[in-house]
Amino acid sequence: MYKLTGVTKRYTRGKETVEALRGVDLTIEDGDQLVIQGPTGGGKSTLLQMIGGLDRPSEGSVELDGVNLATISEAKLTRLRAEKIGIIFQSFNLIPTLTAQENVETALVPLGVKPAERRERAAEALTSVGLGDRLKHAPSELSGGQQQRVAIARALVKKPKVLLADEPTGNLDEGTRDDIMGLLEGLWHEYGLTFIMVTHDSSIARRAPRLATIKAGQITLTEQGRGNGQFTPQQQYAQHGNQGY
Ligand SMILES: Nc1ncnc2c1ncn2[C@@H]1O[C@H](COP(=O)(O)OP(=O)(O)OP(=O)(O)O)[C@@H](O)[C@H]1O
Ligand SMILES: [Mg+2]
Repeated sequence: MYKLTGVTKRYTRGKETVEALRGVDLTIEDGDQLVIQGPTGGGKSTLLQMIGGLDRPSEGSVELDGVNLATISEAKLTRLRAEKIGIIFQSFNLIPTLTAQENVETALVPLGVKPAERRERAAEALTSVGLGDRLKHAPSELSGGQQQRVAIARALVKKPKVLLADEPTGNLDEGTRDDIMGLLEGLWHEYGLTFIMVTHDSSIARRAPRLATIKAGQITLTEQGRGNGQFTPQQQYAQHGNQGY
């Protein structure tokens, strides 16, 4: 569970200070899906960076299962990120000189997984996102949608608890966008992930159980219900455990 309390982030450049987040309070239960929307420059990516432990707040605390990401050591934070948090970006961020399989394997290196097991798990993860026949392809030999699938496999191969996505469909055409969203929603359900996503897409935002709107660094929450799913992710998790790749 995430508990953010009074999260403020200031960026200072010379004499100028930008207050990107202003006292954000937010609780996110395990297995929840939260969609974040808002105008450009409002603080969405900054909030995601705080939640992902990629950066630290200027004030306030970001607790994940009782551990404050704002104050733990850099080494512990790096370890926690490697184990628990998968992140997907708009621009895929794949390494161009590595194959799809090698890109996915990079997520397992910091966890000390041996090469043979890395290769096997990366192949399984790529198969589960529909790319079992593209293991040896370089990113430049894949379509945009396929590249994002590789990035999703890389985020999930370590079996994280949390999946963060910053405009994951922002660079994709409409059809591909729906494919990727369907895939992400399916993975969220199947693995009981805590799934937090920034998107400009109103049709996606409308479907989200919880919607956070961020304007000028301040957050407003809207509970929209759980849609027509038969089970909450927590219930699915309780039934099946976090199995799979
Ligand atoms: N590293 C940085 N240094 C200085 N200012 C920054 C930095 N990162 C973000 N900002 C500023 O903080 C504010 C919030 O930025 P952020 O990237 O969180 O917005 P956003 O809501 O994600 O916008 P977009 O929809 O365009 O991605 C902006 O005014 C931005 O200029
Ligand atoms: Mg952003």
